[in-house]
Amino acid sequence: MQKTLDSQTFKTRDAASYNSLTEQFDFFTDCLSSSLAAQMVSLAKIGSPHSVLDVGTGTGVVALQAAGKIGVGKVHGIDLSEEMLATATAKADRLGLAGKIEFIRMDAEELKFEAQTFDTAVSLFALLHFPNPLMALREIFRVLRPGGRLVVAVGSSPPLISLSGLIHRFKILPDLLRRSQGKQLVAPNFLNSLVERRRITFIRAVMN
Ligand SMILES: C[S@@+](CC[C@H](N)C(=O)[O-])C[C@H]1O[C@@H](n2cnc3c(N)ncnc32)[C@H](O)[C@@H]1O
Repeated sequence: MQKTLDSQTFKTRDAASYNSLTEQFDFFTDCLSSSLAAQMVSLAKIGSPHSVLDVGTGTGVVALQAAGKIGVGKVHGIDLSEEMLATATAKADRLGLAGKIEFIRMDAEELKFEAQTFDTAVSLFALLHFPNPLMALREIFRVLRPGGRLVVAVGSSPPLISLSGLIHRFKILPDLLRRSQGKQLVAPNFLNSLVERRRITFIRAVMN
């Protein structure tokens, strides 16, 4: 019977999946996520001294902007992808931020920091990539100081009952139709549902 991936294997594969795409990921992130990162850094209310943790930092789009704002203090960006971290580190060097920022390979669900280390934790487009987001949130709360701030952003469509929500859904109607027919792949949603359907068929076949 086909086995569901255990969480460690999932994490290793997820991190590895970014390695060959880091350059393109970084290009699009710079174009599309910079202003969002700036908004997150503003919400983080970075003071001086200040310590910041960026969870699932990728190529450091939020961490680097946070480091640019810090007077005294440090930003730690953690991620599981070696290539993403290498690119983030090279960018910090280029921007002259090397002394204020450190990128470390670490699992968000098992942070290697002491309790109450950080004033602020940030995380952009990463939480829903973890097999157990609740465990990651518990870890983040453990390493935040009492009264610390957490700024998390995850992707979503506009609210259903809103003008922008209606316009958005009207625009994507042709895509929705193609998706339902399997003519447009939307990774990982479509692939996940495909695997799930296959598994169910397989189990039924064995039982019959
Ligand atoms: C969509 S990217 C977002 C990166 C960055 N925050 C940004 O917005 O550009 C998700 C990141 O989460 C990282 N990641 C996935 N699972 C992780 C885990 N268990 N611990 C730490 N990072 C993880 C991936 O390697 C990837 O860099």
